Amino acid sequence: MALRIGVVGFGTVGQSVARRLLDTPDPRVRLLRVCGRANGRERPAWLPRSVGWTTDFDALLAPDIDVVVELVGGIQPARSWLHRALIAGKSVVTANKQLVAEHGQELLALAARQQRTFRFEGAVAGGVPVVRAVEDGLAGDRLLGITGILNGTCNYILSRIERAGIPFDEALREAQELGYAEADPTADVDGFDARAKLAILCAIAFGVRVRTSDIECGSIASVTPDDFLRAGRHGCTIRQIASAERTEDGVVACVKPTLVPLDGPFARASGAQNVVAVRGELGGETVFTGQGAGGNPTAVAVLSDLFAVARRELSSVPAPAAAGAARKRGLALVPKYA
Ligand code: HSE
Repeated sequence: MALRIGVVGFGTVGQSVARRLLDTPDPRVRLLRVCGRANGRERPAWLPRSVGWTTDFDALLAPDIDVVVELVGGIQPARSWLHRALIAGKSVVTANKQLVAEHGQELLALAARQQRTFRFEGAVAGGVPVVRAVEDGLAGDRLLGITGILNGTCNYILSRIERAGIPFDEALREAQELGYAEADPTADVDGFDARAKLAILCAIAFGVRVRTSDIECGSIASVTPDDFLRAGRHGCTIRQIASAERTEDGVVACVKPTLVPLDGPFARASGAQNVVAVRGELGGETVFTGQGAGGNPTAVAVLSDLFAVARRELSSVPAPAAAGAARKRGLALVPKYA
């Protein structure tokens, strides 16, 4: 009665997801198999023997897997894998922003045809549940604008240059050591990572497909401690800001280092924090904030998506709190978990 999970990708996020799945007492999810392709990585000693280890993605298409979790990143081979997973009748959870930004519509349509679930909360703003908040929580508004800090690495770098006065290269090294940065950190620094997340938010908030290549990007690589001193004289600091506005003709969007007032929500974001401010016609501004990068925050988003799949696909199985309460009352609501 548990969803049997296959994870592909065993980097920072993949390992956090695996550890969390192994630690969680939740009977709705069970980690069955890991495909550790990246860099020919070896099976780690802490992974129990009950969890299979493979370097062949096809092993996740076997009938004993219900949900494929993709944490590799990049367009290919992830796109082909997820097509094949959906066609094989699996639901899919991914944190792959490039793939969702470029091919999210096609994967959602395929999932709908297959009557399976495709979820991607971990693709935007790490542990901040902004995808679901915008999609469901703000569905009653007509959304007009999004302004955000969508890249934890850049925010970490900028806030370290600001507060410790260290040069860009040193701050970048720290962000890499903390597991925030992409495999190729130019995706973070030059804005490509944030623009993929912004494109996903535009699709959800405005119902408009914005091509990532249409979002102008500026790099933070040349920002220095002196720039922060100059910004401070004007009551400002510097953050990588992603913004999108609905216009008469569609959407105008960009990602670039920007002066923000010292007393506002963007200046207060430090470390790998993300901030997303969404402006609606009726509700005005709603702001979401939290940890936007790193293994554990992103694992929260992935696990939450898995529980959402479980709610949809195991609707007869109660959540653990309800099951625990039922057991205390002597009721056997939960049949038997594999
Ligand atoms: N490199 C990304 C960031 C990871 O720093 O925000 C989370 O998407």
